[in-house]
Amino acid sequence: MNDVHVPVLSEEICHWLSPKPGGIYVDCTLGLGGTSLKILESTGNNAYILGLDRDPEALAYAEKNLELYRSLVKTYCGNYSHLESFVHKAGFEKVDGVVFDLGVSSLQLDKPERGFSFAYDGPLDMRMNQMEGPTAADLVKVLPEKELADLFFVWGEERFSRRIARAIVEARKTFPLETTQALVAVIKGAVPHAYRKGRIHCATRTFQALRIRVNQELDLLQPALQSAVKLLKEGGRLCVVAFHSLEDRVVKQTFRALAGKDNPAITILTKRPLTASQPEIEQNPRSRSAKLRVAERLAEGALQ
Ligand SMILES: C[S@@+](CC[C@H](N)C(=O)[O-])C[C@H]1O[C@@H](n2cnc3c(N)ncnc32)[C@H](O)[C@@H]1O
Repeated sequence: MNDVHVPVLSEEICHWLSPKPGGIYVDCTLGLGGTSLKILESTGNNAYILGLDRDPEALAYAEKNLELYRSLVKTYCGNYSHLESFVHKAGFEKVDGVVFDLGVSSLQLDKPERGFSFAYDGPLDMRMNQMEGPTAADLVKVLPEKELADLFFVWGEERFSRRIARAIVEARKTFPLETTQALVAVIKGAVPHAYRKGRIHCATRTFQALRIRVNQELDLLQPALQSAVKLLKEGGRLCVVAFHSLEDRVVKQTFRALAGKDNPAITILTKRPLTASQPEIEQNPRSRSAKLRVAERLAEGALQ
């Protein structure tokens, strides 16, 4: 197994997904295939996995990592917003479980040329699928100051959003902000000294906001979770790992709405989200912010 990305909370996902031999499972965020591999192994290599990822590079790694299980795994390069059509294309009506391990993989994050990280210099890209849509540099180049400020405030929860937006608009009058480090330098120049020396890097929140916007991460999540619930057989389980509070809030609210009093479609199995154990956090610091929520499909139930 390639160790470029260490799957987070994979033991817990397997426990709660409770995969059964012969079952059909959808991994909506296949990444490098680590979580899927765990699911397969936990059934004694006797389950069927449908794996989706919008990133062709990740998918190529996953296919290599899961090569031994070719007859048990079907992969599609695509967005989980088309989850239902991928499941139907694979010849299934209903499935036994669905997993979302949201966010980006270490493969994406740690490659400077993908532009996700403020820690490396690279093109300001941030697209999970580099064949689609505007890059972060495109947005930084054209969005009006107010829109940038709102973006950093709402999706980055950045308290210096206005100052950063103003500094970007000033800077782009004289030079293009086309690299991660050009943007980092502008952010550093815009925020107070104490914030520059703070616990988290001062560009963390701005980068998060841009990444969410570039990949439409929060817009796609709620409808995809609803599709997943629709596809589940009675007793089938949905496991979702979120990495930041905005994402987790969407998961929590969608679960609550679907578990509502009138004609609920699911029951929520995790009253509080599960988090990584101390040993896992020590081994894989990325797991520190992960939150796992699990729901089970009920026999009947309305889907809003
Ligand atoms: C945290 S990684 C998953 C890692 C995976 N569990 C593993 O073991 O390697 C998240 C993956 O989800 C993919 N992804 C994010 N949003 C997506 C979407 N809307 N549709 C399909 N894939 C998506 C990313 O490209 C990334 O590869």
